Amino acid sequence: MILPSLLSDSYGRIIRDLRVSLTDRCNFRCLYCLPETEEAANFYRSRFHPVRNPLPATHKLPEWMPRSELLTFEEIERLVRLAAGLGVRKIRLTGGEPLLRQGIESLIEKLTRIPGISDLAMTTNGFLFAQKARALKSAGLHRISFSMDSLDPANFKKMTGRAGLDEVLAGISLAQELGLNPVKVNAVVIRGLNDHEIEDLAEFARERNLSFRFIEFMPLDSSRSWLKEMVVPSAEILMRLRSKFDLRQVAASNPSETARRWSFPGGRGEIGIIAPVTEPFCGHCNRIRLTADGKIRTCLFSVSEHDLKGALRGGASDSDLVDQLRSIVWQKEDRHHIGEAEFKTPSRSMSCIGG
Ligand code: GTP
Ligand code: 5AD
Ligand code: SF4
Repeated sequence: MILPSLLSDSYGRIIRDLRVSLTDRCNFRCLYCLPETEEAANFYRSRFHPVRNPLPATHKLPEWMPRSELLTFEEIERLVRLAAGLGVRKIRLTGGEPLLRQGIESLIEKLTRIPGISDLAMTTNGFLFAQKARALKSAGLHRISFSMDSLDPANFKKMTGRAGLDEVLAGISLAQELGLNPVKVNAVVIRGLNDHEIEDLAEFARERNLSFRFIEFMPLDSSRSWLKEMVVPSAEILMRLRSKFDLRQVAASNPSETARRWSFPGGRGEIGIIAPVTEPFCGHCNRIRLTADGKIRTCLFSVSEHDLKGALRGGASDSDLVDQLRSIVWQKEDRHHIGEAEFKTPSRSMSCIGG
């Protein structure tokens, strides 16, 4: 039975996880998210479909949102408090790059005090993490996930558009020292770009006792360059890892987990595979997303959004906002349609949604 106080959708899924994007800005330019140059945006196309699928000659970076459009920390706190009252337990702060948002520690402090929020995490590219780590920890951040797609400085730069591997590695070590556990590291795997590093990345997880997750590339890049040929299917990743390591499957800690996980002999480190393309996990989805400009996205692949900022700034009461949240969640999509004829690319790229 669904309790009336919980946020439920029309398929009976209960929302427990709210992912809050703090800014659309980013200091990296990952090829699979926000490629900077035409060459970067065209990398895949020229490799796989040189003639059939050319990009327009002028590749433009999207314009950043004006700061006045961003929700204030007070507005975010209010929405999180209301969501917590409806059963949300887990908050993940994302971006763009969330550490670009000034004063983020003060938001973390506010959010950790909200009754019901038992898990407060952040996803970062890690470049600025070492500078801010102690402030984040003392503000009460529980745990952190880094994005790191390559251990080779030249390939790292090719994939992220920036020479920042040393900073990210230092950030990961510091997060472990500070006990922001479990420290997770995510790599988007792209055929022909970093798939030759799969084994080295797994070895890194074992040596450093990390949770390392390989993610299938999804069509959420701003240049709309995604092609199925670039996706390295989870089965292939697993086969390669199994031929090098004696992996044991780890039982899921809850049905809404995005990753399937395996541990190494000796129990140090683990690898996970997140396979939204070849093995979608929508049936157990318990996530919604709040964009930096105050829109609720009920799915990563939503083609429409639900504005809450207007109501927040227009004097809506808490009970109005709660009613709106309930009716928005009721409309949550059953699943994504990647690879199907009816698939529509969302108007926003991952840089505005936050992963
Ligand atoms: P924790 O289990 O709390 O650590 O979080 P998580 O598994 O949601 O991990 P994280 O937030 O680091 O997400 C990792 C990546 O998985 C994201 O960057 C996305 O690429 C992908 N992902 C996360 N949630 C979804 C989802 O709801 N749908 C799809 N298709 N992909 C998702
Ligand atoms: N496909 C899959 N994952 C992506 N991410 C960003 N863009 C994509 C994409 N197109 C992931 C990155 C980062 C997180 C914020 O989102 O791994 O960790
Ligand atoms: Fe949930 Fe949409 Fe992700 Fe599927 S694609 S798991 S429905 S957010």
